[in-house]
Amino acid sequence: MPKLSLLVAVTQFLVGLAVARVTGLIKRESASLDSWLATESRYALDGILNNIGANGGKAQGASSGIVVASPSKNNPDYFYTWTRDAALTAKCLIDTFIMTGDEGLQLEMQNYITSQARLQTVSNPSGDLSNGEGLGEPKFNVDMTAFTGSWGRPQRDGPALRATAMITYANWLIENGQTEKADSIIWPIIQNDLAYVAQYWNSTTFDLWEEVEGSSFFTTVAQYRSLIEGSALADKLGHSCPACDSQAPQILCMLQSYWTGSFILANFGSDRSGKDANCILGSIHSFDPSADCNDATFQPCSARALANHKVVTDSFRSIYDVNKGISQGQAVAVGRYPEDVYQGGNPWYLCTMAAAELLYDALYQWERIGSLSISDISLGFFRDIYSASAVGEYESSSSVYKDVTAAVRAYADGFMSVAQKYTPSNGALAEQFSRSTGSPVSASDLTWSYAALLTSSQRRSKLNPPSWNSTSNPPPSTCPSPSPVTGTYKPAPTTTFPTPDCSDPPETVSVRFNALVSTTVGQNVYLVGSVPELGKWDPADGVKLNANEYSSFVPLWYGALEMASGTGFEFKFVIRDGNGVVWETGENRKVEVLQECGVSNMTITGNWRS
Ligand SMILES: *[C@@H]1O[C@H](CO)[C@@H](O)[C@H](O)[C@H]1NC(C)=O
Ligand SMILES: *[C@@H]1O[C@H](CO)[C@@H](O)[C@H](O)[C@H]1NC(C)=O
Ligand SMILES: *[C@@H]1O[C@H](CO)[C@@H](O)[C@H](O)[C@H]1NC(C)=O
Repeated sequence: MPKLSLLVAVTQFLVGLAVARVTGLIKRESASLDSWLATESRYALDGILNNIGANGGKAQGASSGIVVASPSKNNPDYFYTWTRDAALTAKCLIDTFIMTGDEGLQLEMQNYITSQARLQTVSNPSGDLSNGEGLGEPKFNVDMTAFTGSWGRPQRDGPALRATAMITYANWLIENGQTEKADSIIWPIIQNDLAYVAQYWNSTTFDLWEEVEGSSFFTTVAQYRSLIEGSALADKLGHSCPACDSQAPQILCMLQSYWTGSFILANFGSDRSGKDANCILGSIHSFDPSADCNDATFQPCSARALANHKVVTDSFRSIYDVNKGISQGQAVAVGRYPEDVYQGGNPWYLCTMAAAELLYDALYQWERIGSLSISDISLGFFRDIYSASAVGEYESSSSVYKDVTAAVRAYADGFMSVAQKYTPSNGALAEQFSRSTGSPVSASDLTWSYAALLTSSQRRSKLNPPSWNSTSNPPPSTCPSPSPVTGTYKPAPTTTFPTPDCSDPPETVSVRFNALVSTTVGQNVYLVGSVPELGKWDPADGVKLNANEYSSFVPLWYGALEMASGTGFEFKFVIRDGNGVVWETGENRKVEVLQECGVSNMTITGNWRS
């Protein structure tokens, strides 16, 4: 097996485990969703990697690091790279790398960054780099040349989303003692994107669906986030971003104008209802696990985001045949917006899973905060799924909190189950599924659909991206007159990462095992497996894991072993207490220790199987 595909195979394994269920917290009826997600997550990561050049199996002809939207070359032809789709995919990969420690994904991220540095310099119909306008070009050919056909351009969410993906990696490098790479390679690329956002946020744009020219909630919220994170990164690197600091509060102020009082208006400049998955996506891509239920930034647990969730999902209840007979408060198939006619105007996998993801995000936030509040604005959302809901503040120890959060979780799982129901048995995720029959429609193997499957299943298992410190002062009720800043733009001087010395892969790899197992006092968790280090299947000789990071919230047992590169082994998690030994159920877990240049760590995360 060539080295890359070995890496990919192990990666699939790791991520598949990482999104399996958290033991003990889930009722039995979701068992089939659990096992589908474990398998489908492996398929989805493979689906993403297949669509990235130069080695992706379905991305032949794409340059290194280029994320192709879909291998589909006709009706529709999506064999291009979109800045937005690529950035959302890169964010998913870098977050997955940080969660799992899987260094193969880090290499993909580096190739992506190198490719984006080049794309920033490609003159295109939106303009070029000299005044930044070329950064707003929505899509390029897969060989990194300009796409010159007519299109809805510019699309100003791309640079913001790309900055956010790169900032996540730069922050990780800084935290891991590699500030020099963040500063010399990544910061100059990020700077161009931040300058673009600060200069053009108050100019009209095409929305994420490439149809409406005006202002778009998804774009504005992504722009705000990028400048907050950009400013924090500049500080850490000993630089500053005055344009980030002056523009972010103005963008936050303008962002409030999308709130209608009962839902989030997707776009200014359109005569549609304004009910649109745009705004659910805006909330999940600005999810900050450390945030309060902040209305100003439309956090997933905010009253605004929940009220909007109801309005948007309800807008699809009566218009799709596949939703017929599903009662209020039960999950449905979700499309982009009710007036949609593109390719038949069907439900989309990524929109349906976004409806689940927002609720998993909210559940995490309530659990961390330790309470949940129901207001006049969010009451309708809560009443649908828990009819006794009443306005109030509920501590996490209260029975109302427990009942409501159980209902929210079941509702969220319902949206995932809708996606599961309409996914063909081979696991392939297209763009849409038919509103009348549920069979896949439009582009096949849509990269964004796969990324949405991974992010929603990770959130379901409380595997979260890093915080972006979204907390801010409340915006003023009247916005100041906008004063965008003219930026300066330069090609990044260094765009490649040092390649590891490939003549000599490390002889051993530090393998970290994370087990998510709810235990009681007196119980300990062990690794028991086929190799001598793991006791040759004798539980008395297994490796005891540490519980010093354990909480009821994240029931983590972990341990690390130095293992010979290239070794294959099998293992299971085992619970031991005074009364004996309990093995987890199911097949043995199979692992191949990586043998790759530059790879000295890997992480295996698994949920106890009872
Ligand atoms: C520009 O900002 C003003 C003030 O916040 C706002 O009213 C207007 O809608 C914005 N226009 C665009 C295109 O962002
Ligand atoms: C968020 O703020 C904390 C405390 O100031 C800081 O340590 C951390 O690095 C910040 N995170 C980001 C992503 O900037
Ligand atoms: C790699 O493993 C070493 C040894 O266990 C550990 O100190 C280091 O933090 C690990 N690095 C990553 C990125 O996990």
